[in-house]
Amino acid sequence: MVLNVVIMAAGKGTRMRSARPKVLHTLAGRHLLQHVLDAAAGLGASRTIVVTGHGAAEVERACAAPGLAFVRQEPQLGTGHALQQAAPLLDDAGTTLVLNGDVPLIEAETLQKLVAASSGDRLALLTVELAEPKGYGRVLRRGGAIAAIVEEKDASPAEREVAEIYTGVMAAPTAALKRWLAALKNDNAAGEYYLTDVVGLAVAAGTPVVGVAAAGETEVLGVNSAAQLADLERRLQRRFAERLMSEGVRLADPARFDLRGTLRCGSDVEIDVGCIFEGEVELGDEVKIGAYCMLRNARVAAGATIRPYTHIDGEALGASVGEGAIVGPFARLRGGAALGPEVHIGNFVEVKNSVLGRGAKANHLAYLGDADVGERVNYGAGAITANYDGANKHRTTIGADAHIGSNVVLVAPIKIGEGATVGGGSTLANDAPAGQLTVARARQSSFADWKRPTKKR
Ligand code: UD1
Ligand code: MG
Repeated sequence: MVLNVVIMAAGKGTRMRSARPKVLHTLAGRHLLQHVLDAAAGLGASRTIVVTGHGAAEVERACAAPGLAFVRQEPQLGTGHALQQAAPLLDDAGTTLVLNGDVPLIEAETLQKLVAASSGDRLALLTVELAEPKGYGRVLRRGGAIAAIVEEKDASPAEREVAEIYTGVMAAPTAALKRWLAALKNDNAAGEYYLTDVVGLAVAAGTPVVGVAAAGETEVLGVNSAAQLADLERRLQRRFAERLMSEGVRLADPARFDLRGTLRCGSDVEIDVGCIFEGEVELGDEVKIGAYCMLRNARVAAGATIRPYTHIDGEALGASVGEGAIVGPFARLRGGAALGPEVHIGNFVEVKNSVLGRGAKANHLAYLGDADVGERVNYGAGAITANYDGANKHRTTIGADAHIGSNVVLVAPIKIGEGATVGGGSTLANDAPAGQLTVARARQSSFADWKRPTKKR
């Protein structure tokens, strides 16, 4: 059977009170529309069409993918009008599945069920009973059979009492759907062409209308306001947290956990409150993540500890922390930071595009950028690699067992030999030999006859 999918995403989303098109607001770091596209991806549709309008160019740019077609709806005269724009692209012999771009947590399994219920000759509606049905289209039944959907704005007080609502998802025989779309009128409270009016038209035409009950309310909740977006975010995060806990991850508080990408964990991982994981993150066995850390595109090897308030963003290059290493509190790792085993990175230390050998330490207030740091190097407080000359970046190489004093500036490109010691406060623009003490700073002087100035009377 030929299946076409249409996702409606042209609406303005007035109730969001935002300049951004509604479907480009994010949930767990992905656009609302992307969630819907992902749910539909496994259905084997021969064609997927997104109806854009408000902020069309922006939406199309953000969600473009091979095999995805966009049609524009301008102006936006309602959901029925939106589908009318897509109609010419739909294959007559087959089924059309209609999705709302603002109902992001819909599950693939539910969609499969709905398409099966339509089975080529019935109009199938996904419905659910809500304790708070306010704002949704109500499903009106006569003698148990679905007779119509009435929108909140047009419903009588008695109809507003109905708890069964239309979720915005339907599957219909395409040829019949096209006939119903052509017959829509806009004589309603909103002055819009309601897609939901196809239900009354199907009933009038003698086409069976069937309801399929959603598995739960979360998957069918729509996003129409900032408050609803935040509510869905918490529901989705709860799902992620529960899945991780079921795999043995110990979350100090599943309500204070955020995942905006993929998180893979080994055994006995502990994550304290308020942590955010983005992109691709991997945590090895017995890793501990302290409170309020942020990790993005990072790998943390077994037994490592990330102390509170640490920010790790591997950007495109990724960042990695070796076995048993200790990072933080208040540390910052950037793209290309690769810490070996047992490395210690302390408070207010920034590491970028640098490789640190086993046991190297930079414990306080320092910067390592574009550096290769040998094993057991001790990099002092306030030391920095001056890696940028205003035009180009240069590398710094520090040999094993070197000791870099406090407040040292290493002007790259530069090499510090193995076992070298660099005196505190030195600015080095030339290489320092292995095993020697190198100092580059003004010699200390004292002036016995010097008098401190006093105030004139
Ligand atoms: C719609 C349904 C309502 C259902 C609810 C479920 C209609 C008339 N009503 O109401 O029965 O309970 O969804 O969430 O369909 N859109 C367009 N073009 C337009 C208008 C809207 O593409 O001209 C898109 C929007 O971007 C959105 C979707 O259609 O993704 C739904 O529009 P929205 O205005 O949110 O409809 P609801 O009032 O929520
Ligand atoms: Mg809506």
